[in-house]
Amino acid sequence: MKKVLLSLVIGVFVAGPALADPADLALATSKNCMSCHAVERKVLGPSFKDVAAKYKDSKGAVDLLATKIMKGGSGVWGPVPMPANTQVSEADARKLAAWVLSAK
Ligand code: HEC
Repeated sequence: MKKVLLSLVIGVFVAGPALADPADLALATSKNCMSCHAVERKVLGPSFKDVAAKYKDSKGAVDLLATKIMKGGSGVWGPVPMPANTQVSEADARKLAAWVLSAK
């Protein structure tokens, strides 16, 4: 719990100025994304800035990432897989994917 809280605090702190829409950070936080991710630095998962940079020229990135957010993924960023986030609806997954892709 302490760890989760700490990463929330760090997540909010690091993410703050880079965000297009703070409401989406709140969504990401409520869906537990920020316990493994931060916008500007790698935690367990890649930073959302790195994700945005990687997919900036790829069409269909929102769909691809929304699917990965819901179903999990592996082998793209390193040896650690992302588990499925079954608490995330498709609408929220698309919102989160678009938000991640807007990270700069
Ligand atoms: C238990 C830790 C964990 C949680 C919780 C988590 N992720 Fe991840 N995420 C990872 C890891 C690890 C990777 C890298 C997987 C890989 O290498 O393919 C990743 C990858 C990603 C990617 C890039 C996928 C790709 O194929 O390039 C996105 C986008 C992402 N996560 C978004 C989210 C969102 C949004 C949430 C909240 C709903 C979330 N993650 C929750 C650990 C997590």
